[in-house]
Amino acid sequence: MSRTLTVHEAGLAVADPTAYADEERLHAALTLLRKESPVHRVEAPGYNPFWAITKHSDIMEIERDNKLFLSAPRTLLGTAEMDALQEEQRKIGMELRTLVHMDDPQHRLVRAIGADWFRPKAMRAMQARVDELARQYVDRMAELGGECDFVQQVAVHYPLYVILSLLGLPESDFPRMLKLTQELFGGQDEELRRGESAQEQLATLFDFFDYFNALTVARRENPTDDLASAIANAVVDGQPLSDIDTASYYVIVATAGHDTTSATIAGGLEALLSHPDQLQRLKDDPSLLPLATDEMIRWVTPVKEFMRTASADTEIRGVPIAKGESVLLSYPSANRDEEVFEDPFRFDVGRDPNKHLAFGFGVHYCLGAALARMEIQALYRELLPRLTSVELAGTPEWTASTFVGGLKHLPIRYTMS
Ligand code: HEM
Repeated sequence: MSRTLTVHEAGLAVADPTAYADEERLHAALTLLRKESPVHRVEAPGYNPFWAITKHSDIMEIERDNKLFLSAPRTLLGTAEMDALQEEQRKIGMELRTLVHMDDPQHRLVRAIGADWFRPKAMRAMQARVDELARQYVDRMAELGGECDFVQQVAVHYPLYVILSLLGLPESDFPRMLKLTQELFGGQDEELRRGESAQEQLATLFDFFDYFNALTVARRENPTDDLASAIANAVVDGQPLSDIDTASYYVIVATAGHDTTSATIAGGLEALLSHPDQLQRLKDDPSLLPLATDEMIRWVTPVKEFMRTASADTEIRGVPIAKGESVLLSYPSANRDEEVFEDPFRFDVGRDPNKHLAFGFGVHYCLGAALARMEIQALYRELLPRLTSVELAGTPEWTASTFVGGLKHLPIRYTMS
């Protein structure tokens, strides 16, 4: 007999990586928090305390007020051990400092370096390459002969190749980047992570830095027409970016643009498989694809959280938050908020409006949102008309991660034309 979940247990689930590998358990916890304790203090063993924010409107309000709620110093949920290690790195100027870690005025200046590469004009220039890669991966799926692990054999490769093409990296380096991003984001998952300790996981980060430092040197010597050159040769306040800031920029682009999109593509297919009426509806009416794409993004919500730290005493929904305390923005919860979405647990390829927060909100709003949408649409535009039948060929498995996650295995059986 199942026992009733307590609010205390629901709070602990927010910090428990394994809860994210079990969507039902996670959403039972988040639904309870939204109802009973939407601003909830979590004191989980091994973690510094934080406030879990689970309502859509509260998350928007916190993100809007980027003077009161800062991204530094606690950008993401990590163990107390990780927090301490980061503090050490900060002291010696060796911490990973990407856009998501920065606050204004620096954030605005650094965001501007890459912004042009994600604007509509640049996206239009990318469309042909993205379509070509989508076709290649759908062809590869056909060649696999009717059975595959859709995550490992299709979904993880395609977005990485798009983003590495945009950066301008050589194709021979793509497999290495794939492994490093999986190790970085699979840090809490036993199957994917490189090692047990925070130290071993940091080794992954240093491998990234080594690779990208060499890239910076090469692009400064011989500038080319790609995003990597724009980053390597950027000037802020009359100075080039420091080595660590340059490498951090590549890391955010290479990693943020990868697992998030592949998780959405894979989770989107899983949603279509478990809602065959919606699969048929989309096949019958491909003009729904843009709406279906955003519904997949809402449904999967691959980024599970970011954090902010209060720069002054304040309150949220009447709950006092002291200066220096941190709030965790639960995007999966916002995207199932019954006050915003009609029937939020229904997967609806025609959902309109769909004001999901999967890309965040405010000054840190996802830089790659248009690219992600373009990639997802390109793949399904190619795949759906060719897929004559598709079904599960095993049990789907999700990543255990409190940060970026989604399916890690999706075994399917299919026929294609
Ligand atoms: C479905 C796919 C994606 C999702 C769900 C997603 C989600 C997010 C979220 C939640 C944030 C933080 C927003 C905030 O704090 O308000 C973010 C930031 C960011 N994303 Fe994405 N993302 C996706 C794809 C991409 C792609 C393809 C790129 C391409 C490079 C990308 C690049 C970035 C960058 C650079 C930032 C930092 C922006 C800043 O702090 O100013 N993302 N993304």
